[in-house]
Amino acid sequence: MTQRTVYIDNNYVAEQDAKVSIFDRGFLFADGVYEVCSVLGGKLVDFEGHMRRLRRSAAELELPLPWADEALLEIHRELVRRNDLAEGLVYLQLTRGNPGDRDFDFPSADLTPTLVLFTQAKPLLESRSGREGIRVATQPDWRWARRDIKTVQLLYPSMAKMAAKAAGADDAWMVEAGKVTEGASNNAWMLTWEGVLVTRELSSAILPGITRAAVMAIAEALSLDIEERAFSVEEAKQARECFVTSATSFVTPVIAVDGVPIGDGVPGEVALRLRAAYIEESRRRAV
Ligand code: PDD
Repeated sequence: MTQRTVYIDNNYVAEQDAKVSIFDRGFLFADGVYEVCSVLGGKLVDFEGHMRRLRRSAAELELPLPWADEALLEIHRELVRRNDLAEGLVYLQLTRGNPGDRDFDFPSADLTPTLVLFTQAKPLLESRSGREGIRVATQPDWRWARRDIKTVQLLYPSMAKMAAKAAGADDAWMVEAGKVTEGASNNAWMLTWEGVLVTRELSSAILPGITRAAVMAIAEALSLDIEERAFSVEEAKQARECFVTSATSFVTPVIAVDGVPIGDGVPGEVALRLRAAYIEESRRRAV
């Protein structure tokens, strides 16, 4: 495989030359936030929304982010260009940096944060999951209570995905007090038999998905009824359709929940329509 060019500490370097200190708080305390922006036709999808959420995540953790959006856009674009990336994603991670020792207390505010970005090539438009849908298995939501902040504490989502796979599914849906919060790395939706789209309301229980917001705007433009509320696992199992949204999966149909087929057990018509509309809109608006 050819070596990627990645970004670290204001430099573009070969991936094997990108080094972060063992004292970096991202490594020792998961003291960092991240964003994932998809790339279609060499352009960035929903860039502005992702940067707005990055700024909010950083502010909630009192994490300095001394880069303007224009500078961040330039870094994203330069990486896409240097790696000749047509389709895939750009991953950005910001951590509080290296204070030189391990200490629970936040270091002084003038510590230089660590910013790294890298690209990953990935087929997004033509994927088996987009075409055929995925099966999800429910898992208890054992993450912390500030899921609205996109932190790099991803151990539990990773474990939940592995447990879902061990149960014969493709991905996990997290459940708290009988209600679905979200997917391990996406937002969860269902369509009732009455034709109402349902997705959980924004709160500290879930990540405010950028794709969720874009799909909601598209659904509104298509005059679909939308209800933002929590739904139970039982409701999902009896729904006409289920699907998930995220930067890298766009809109992906869910064809089974805990082994129970959803609707006819094939990708739903509304999910596929929203997927096509989201892709069309994203290609048009990508920067
Ligand atoms: N995950 N909920 C969670 C817990 C997520 O991790 C993600 C994104 C989403 C969807 O957000 P958005 O539409 O802004 O991508 C919801 C990214 C893709 C990841 O961790 O790779």
